[in-house]
Amino acid sequence: MSGKPQVIVLPDAHAVAAAVTQRLVARINESREAGQPCVLGLPTGKTPIGVYHHLVHLHREGSLDFSHVVTFNLDEYYPMPADSPHSYHRFMHHHLFDHVSIPPAHIHIPDGTVDDDKVADHARWYEQQIQKHGGLDVVLLGIGRNGHIGFNEPGAGPETRTRRVQLGATTRTDALADFMDAAVPREAISMGVGTMLDAREIILMATGAHKADIIHQALTMTPDVTVPASFLQSHPAVCVLLDEAAAQVLNHETA
Ligand code: GLP
Repeated sequence: MSGKPQVIVLPDAHAVAAAVTQRLVARINESREAGQPCVLGLPTGKTPIGVYHHLVHLHREGSLDFSHVVTFNLDEYYPMPADSPHSYHRFMHHHLFDHVSIPPAHIHIPDGTVDDDKVADHARWYEQQIQKHGGLDVVLLGIGRNGHIGFNEPGAGPETRTRRVQLGATTRTDALADFMDAAVPREAISMGVGTMLDAREIILMATGAHKADIIHQALTMTPDVTVPASFLQSHPAVCVLLDEAAAQVLNHETA
């Protein structure tokens, strides 16, 4: 059925962020030494904020160059103006891009402002850009409580590519806190599960007890569209980094 994801459990979210940072920094520096671009797939959400914080810190210290880094974000709400406080554009610029030496032309985020009848063309273009840059070297993922990765909600299989998607009730409820008084969008543009599985390396990070059940399911069930993250099991180079809280159901079973 599947490969065997490497699972690393660390004491807390700080340790997870530090370990994920170390892996990303290794890839970024290897590519630089090889004179190659480093093509990253990047997530939003609370989980990766600590990683972005570390990357900014290392860049400010002078020990991490981003001039050869090319990024593709996993998703963006649709419709969504880039300058909205709720946009993933704003999130990424605020937490990472505004503070590191990445050339603006290297940054790719699905465009939440394209016309309704142009979304499919834009999604195709996004996939082509990933190909043009040689494919994703590393994709960093968080996970939603319903097993979504990017905005690939239950029902999304390994054949999916970048496209317009509907957001489910759990995802929209979980996003409420970020939206305050504004309505959570019903749709998004998301990289597909297949796009992510084509990456040479996948790093999945999860922290907190609220992720424990879905992590257990995603890593132990027979891969199925009910939990899109379960398809990660089939990837030959996936590493799952968890804190104790997110690993508690998994640990309970294997103890
Ligand atoms: C959103 C993003 C996902 C992210 C998920 C979990 O749905 N589209 O990429 O993994 O939220 O977010 P958090 O890390 O805040 O739990």
